[in-house]
Amino acid sequence: MIRTRFLGTGSFAPEKVLTNLDLEKMVETSDEWIRERTGIRERHIAASGVATSDLALEASRRALSAAGVSPEALDLILVATVTPDMIFPATACVLQNKLGAKKAVAFDVSAACSGFIFALATADAFIRSGIYKNILVVGAETLSKITDWTDRNTCVLFGDGAGAAVLGPDDSGKGLMSTHLHTDGSMGDLLYMPGGGSLNPASVWSLEQRMHYIKMRGNETFKIAVRALEDVVMEAINHNGLTSSDIDVLVPHQANLRIIQATAKRLDMPMDKVVVTIHKYGNTSAASVPMALDQAVNDGRIKDGSTVLLEAFGGGLSWASALIKW
Ligand code: ACO
Repeated sequence: MIRTRFLGTGSFAPEKVLTNLDLEKMVETSDEWIRERTGIRERHIAASGVATSDLALEASRRALSAAGVSPEALDLILVATVTPDMIFPATACVLQNKLGAKKAVAFDVSAACSGFIFALATADAFIRSGIYKNILVVGAETLSKITDWTDRNTCVLFGDGAGAAVLGPDDSGKGLMSTHLHTDGSMGDLLYMPGGGSLNPASVWSLEQRMHYIKMRGNETFKIAVRALEDVVMEAINHNGLTSSDIDVLVPHQANLRIIQATAKRLDMPMDKVVVTIHKYGNTSAASVPMALDQAVNDGRIKDGSTVLLEAFGGGLSWASALIKW
């Protein structure tokens, strides 16, 4: 039976670091509030002129090198992002050109913070159906470019970065065991960016209304996220006939340490099995799961044979899980 195997992972964050103390000078907030309510201490910010595809390129090169796969061998490139370089062409096409992956077809996946797992599920369908072999899946964001730096409710939360994985077919029984994807469009207005699309194209009015920034009703989103993530991790575990104690490593979306702890509690899982990067990077949306995954691969927590559970929740609303036998 053909399964989708992770051949290599990579991640990248831009050099500039913005600390909570830096934010204290920008808005009415405190290091203590940010740490206690979110777990975030600092985040990385892309320089002006640096686009999402630039971060994606670095993460992709690292993943390709770890996998021993050349860009020319790629059949498909998927980029999950809500901060594309431009509305079109797809950032995946920009990345294809930067990598020199001439043979590949490339397109973007838009599912906000859940985007990497949605892209993973898409890649998995192409691999298991035999349509494509070597697939590069990337989650990359420059959320700093759509963050309202005068809004303390949101500006303390987000950061920039990219994570990538090279995937290929494998018949050893290891690889991606399942993905579970969910959306509920009726709650789209809890977390969105209203400007810049066909509904509110860029205009003097849309700029004056500050429409080109992330809007979030954080507290409501928080409560829904906790419930949805508990459900979707149990869905993955039950679907595979496992119990929570079978999970070696949980790689959660990094939106809020309290949400991560609630999911771990539901799984009755000690925090040393949970990959936490939020203190260093904040919420990097679609990049957060693959960045955390790469960190756990590199620090040796994920090794051959590990049972790894990924989960994410974000705009859409969207939420998802993936279970992997590494
Ligand atoms: N500094 C100081 N005070 C603040 C700040 C800040 N940065 N931000 C908000 N506050 C204040 C509020 O104004 C409020 O004050 P009030 O009681 O006087 O009105 C108080 O703190 C509490 O605000 P809440 O919003 O209720 O705080 P909460 O504990 O819910 O934490 C947070 C806010 C961190 C945003 C949390 O709700 C959260 O993490 N939400 C979920 C985010 C999420 O998972 N999003 C989905 C993924 S993101 C994506 O898809 C891009």
